[in-house]
Amino acid sequence: MTTFTLAHLSDPHLPPMPRPTLGELAGKRVIGYVNWTRNRHRVHRSEVIDALIADLKARRPDHVAVTGDLVNIALPAEIMRAAEWLRSVGSTDDVTLVPGNHDAYVAAAAAHVARAWGDYMRGDDADAAHFPFVRRRGPLTLIGLTTAVPTAPFRATGRLGRTQIAALDALLGSLADDGNFRVLLLHHPLQSAPHRRHARLTDSAALRTLLRRHGVDLVLHGHDHRHAVTYVDGPLTRIPVIGVPSASVAAGSHREPAAYNLFAITRGNAGWHVEMTTRGLRHDGITVLRKDVLL
Ligand SMILES: [Fe+2]
Ligand SMILES: [Fe+2]
Repeated sequence: MTTFTLAHLSDPHLPPMPRPTLGELAGKRVIGYVNWTRNRHRVHRSEVIDALIADLKARRPDHVAVTGDLVNIALPAEIMRAAEWLRSVGSTDDVTLVPGNHDAYVAAAAAHVARAWGDYMRGDDADAAHFPFVRRRGPLTLIGLTTAVPTAPFRATGRLGRTQIAALDALLGSLADDGNFRVLLLHHPLQSAPHRRHARLTDSAALRTLLRRHGVDLVLHGHDHRHAVTYVDGPLTRIPVIGVPSASVAAGSHREPAAYNLFAITRGNAGWHVEMTTRGLRHDGITVLRKDVLL
């Protein structure tokens, strides 16, 4: 029986921060820039993301999913540099991306993101990024959503919006008898703790209703910068919802250190078998942090 390996990483918040022009430092970006120069540049480190990607490539996954927050305040120079980073991770065939709230930090970022990263967020039959999108890779059907919307300062909420939810309803309905392993990719988690209310997915209830009706086999997200294993109801069984820490957090920063997940997905006689291996930073090296059998 062949096994397909999907790697999942998120929230690299790629350093270093390019020097913004005065014109770029208007509105919400000022706060983000001050936050970066005071705190975040010590947390998100290029040597950490580089080590993590080297380790990931050595595992030779069949596909890589990246669930957003590639950048910090969505400066055009950050977005261009992140496109180079994406190319270093893999080709547009081998890497699938969905954007995060930091990638939509200001409304002006959307056009830059679409141009620079669009080929990583494009469905198999599409010629431009459009959500939801579908990509088929081996036994996988990957479904990409965007929850990235510009928000007011000190808020990091996400929203799917009515149009995307309606399109997803039809799409998931058409994939119900797909026979493939359906993986839903989005940046925000489906449930947030009370202290993360300012950072929640505001229309998560509508998404959970669709998942209860149509089901998928696995949901992957980032945003909380924490390892998380939760479940939501599907039509027949519970669906695992997996959050991954940020891919660039240095050890000893009082935050969860960098990690990524590898999903070994095998089609069995009695259904899918899925093992998750979390590899991440411990002391100075990347090692196995945990293993879970999900399905
Ligand atoms: Fe993030
Ligand atoms: Fe985020």
